[in-house]
Amino acid sequence: MKTYRMASIPGDGIGPEVIAEGVKVLNAVAELDGGFRFDWTEFPWGCEYYLRNGVMMDEDGIERLKGFDAIYLGAVGAPGVPDHISLWGLLLAIRKGFDQYINLRPVKLLRGAPCPLKGVGPGEIDMTFIRENSEGEYAGSGAWLYKDQPNEVVIQNGVFSRVGCERVIRYAYELARKEKKTLSSISKGNALNYSMVFWDQIFKEVGKDYPDVKTYSYLVDAASMFMVRDPKRFEIVVTSNLFGDILTDLGAAITGGLGLAAGANLNPERKYPSMFEPIHGSAPDIAGRGVANPIAAVWSASQILDFFGHEAWGRKVLAAIETLLSERKTLTPDLGGSATTGETGDAITALLRENRQ
Ligand code: NAD
Ligand code: IPM
Ligand code: MN
Repeated sequence: MKTYRMASIPGDGIGPEVIAEGVKVLNAVAELDGGFRFDWTEFPWGCEYYLRNGVMMDEDGIERLKGFDAIYLGAVGAPGVPDHISLWGLLLAIRKGFDQYINLRPVKLLRGAPCPLKGVGPGEIDMTFIRENSEGEYAGSGAWLYKDQPNEVVIQNGVFSRVGCERVIRYAYELARKEKKTLSSISKGNALNYSMVFWDQIFKEVGKDYPDVKTYSYLVDAASMFMVRDPKRFEIVVTSNLFGDILTDLGAAITGGLGLAAGANLNPERKYPSMFEPIHGSAPDIAGRGVANPIAAVWSASQILDFFGHEAWGRKVLAAIETLLSERKTLTPDLGGSATTGETGDAITALLRENRQ
């Protein structure tokens, strides 16, 4: 039987609560299929680990993760540890260490999910965000000069390499071609006169190889307005690291909230493991109460199934989520219900077992 070697990093806050449900669903799917299984290794890394050991993950962490087929991560961040320490020490270290340069985030309004936009129904928001995930505004390049002096200066560089831009843009064109969808690039060339002019130029250059793909180019400010006013116009979207971060939280807001939004950090060449996670954070405001919505984590579990080539199961998990949302019987408080995290995971698993998607 095929065994997938899985590393789980539940992390902080609601991370462990939602990851437990995703693991539950994946194990149930494997059992129902009968042809594959998941072999889980859990890593205790995160902010508590940092407070005890002085590091967010072990020094040989990246080396130890290398042998896994995929990584399933909950969330990172806790009030007692500065965010730039915790995130650069774990989440960003993995994205960078494994060259997971594609961050694929579906922004799709599922059947039964609440939408705050007037007159917009399922089928009318169906985007796939391809966020650059290795450089740009997240390059970690800069300086802090004359610290605590009156002439203090900080510099945060945006780093856009030709290789870095080309590969993410090409990935997006390939996806648009494969899915026969339009491709929108979101940038900001009017103000960012080096990085985004370069991005736009590469978007055009790479496009010469894809005459069959219909393209659009938006400035990020207008794009954020159109996401709310006319979300139908976006299908495949490619954008820089920071713009993609911000726009996908907006995407979550128009498709049912952060409790539903998932993302995959991919190394398309499969030279290193890819990492799957809900896009929300550790939500310290609700952590430890068993009320976090696990759907985002379960959706990212469906992305794991897709990634391993079990797309039919990936679709079934999404369909089970849609049934759960439509029946409105087992929903967490963010969706107006009173179910716990565990009850929600159990309900999704039950729908799969009963083959009621
Ligand atoms: P957050 O996503 O943790 O929470 C924002 C709001 O959404 C909160 O009100 C929270 O209760 C709610 N929310 C989030 N996920 C939910 C879920 N599954 N169910 C119900 N409600 C949910 O963002 P934040 O408050 O800005 O950040 C908190 C911490 O998480 C910070 O330390 C931040 O750096 C970190 N963070 C980590 C990740 C990650 O690990 N991928 C992502 C974002 C933020
Ligand atoms: C996300 C998060 C991270 C990001 C943070 C926690 C560093 O917000 O995955 O969306 O900005 O990429
Ligand atoms: Mn984010």
